[in-house]
Amino acid sequence: MTNAELQQRKDAATPRGVGVMCDFYAARAENAELWDIEGRRFIDFAAGIAVVNTGHRHPRVVAAIREQLERFTHTAYQIVPYASYVELAEKLNARAPGAHPKKTAFFTTGAEAVENAVKIARAATGRPGIIAFSGGFHGRTMMGMALTGKVAPYKVGFGPFPSDVFHAPFPNPLHGISTTDSLRAVETLLKADIDAARVAAIIFEPVQGEGGFYPAPAEFVHGLRHLCDKYGILLIADEVQTGFARTGKLFAMEHYEVAADLITMAKSLAGGMPLAGVVGRADVMDAAAPGGLGGTYAGNPLALAAAHAVLDVIDEERLCERATRLGNALKARLAALQADVPQLAEVRGPGAMVACEFLVPGTLDPDARFAKRVQARALERGLLLLVCGAYGNVVRFLFPLTIEDAVFNEALDLLEEALKESVGAMA
Ligand SMILES: Cc1ncc(COP(=O)(O)O)c(C=O)c1O
Repeated sequence: MTNAELQQRKDAATPRGVGVMCDFYAARAENAELWDIEGRRFIDFAAGIAVVNTGHRHPRVVAAIREQLERFTHTAYQIVPYASYVELAEKLNARAPGAHPKKTAFFTTGAEAVENAVKIARAATGRPGIIAFSGGFHGRTMMGMALTGKVAPYKVGFGPFPSDVFHAPFPNPLHGISTTDSLRAVETLLKADIDAARVAAIIFEPVQGEGGFYPAPAEFVHGLRHLCDKYGILLIADEVQTGFARTGKLFAMEHYEVAADLITMAKSLAGGMPLAGVVGRADVMDAAAPGGLGGTYAGNPLALAAAHAVLDVIDEERLCERATRLGNALKARLAALQADVPQLAEVRGPGAMVACEFLVPGTLDPDARFAKRVQARALERGLLLLVCGAYGNVVRFLFPLTIEDAVFNEALDLLEEALKESVGAMA
């Protein structure tokens, strides 16, 4: 079977709403490389959208899944529990930032983790309101969409959404939004739109993912914590994309001196298996009544086995340090290219959560055409890149943190070629 044949069958068999970036089909993958069904090799700087920080098929992860497969695959934790669920909760409670006692519940997808964090916050506070941020992405469920601060393509045609959700601008110095502006906007919401006493939670991403890899400045996070403490609001950090060593820490919230009350996690938690969770203050986590949280597949045993192995790999291979080292090398390479690539306005991001933003030279206008061109030129050379940002003008880099040095350097060469050729093409 060829890619072209499958592409035709896909278009006939599956809806266009499931948008697909590539027109080739995966055959196999190993660490940071994948091969399509026609044998073509790609270096994977997408990592399944930030899911395989520990690489495709890490031997430790594969062995853990295999071992679990031989014992049982599903009992439904809420019916017949198993130790691996409790043990992973214990590990995450110990490692999530914040000095308070913690508890963890597991789910299957990032959107589900967000839904449940909101449910828990509402149960704990008895309040309905949630404040989120423009550019934020929180998933494709109804509440996920309501919280998401980007209309196209996520919200178009799908409303009405759950009520009592409000958005404030997220800090974005490049585009003139300061931390003070953002915090003031939250205060304004509390004056103009919803009584603070009716707000259950403020949800934010420590680094906005889909929104463009904009890091939350420390003063902003401290300011949110202060507002939350002042009004009895819970702070939810959505770490679905920032988690598990990507930013140079196990949790991105470790970069701040203040803690969130609840943290959502998914993606790289289980190295390619579907697993999500909410970790948070034990008293808050206990607010929902028995039976209120869970799901048939929530805390799947194969995914839990993978997650235990992922945590071991992150520790043993020192992936937090590696994320910082590789991220710094990438940032230095990109910064050195800025002179030759006038569209390259900013290189940013903590650890290996790196992105570059393209603007029309001499302006603050997003240059999505240039970002798309870089992505296409890179793909032609066998390097898989993702774009993001409200205007699609940001290229983000999500390579597995386990990537071999030689493959990483090869990818940086391909990226440089793609950038330089894109400049030539635009001239
Ligand atoms: C910050 C954040 N929250 C939630 C989600 C939704 O996760 P999922 O696609 O697993 O439902 C994502 C997915 O990209 C995300 O980046």
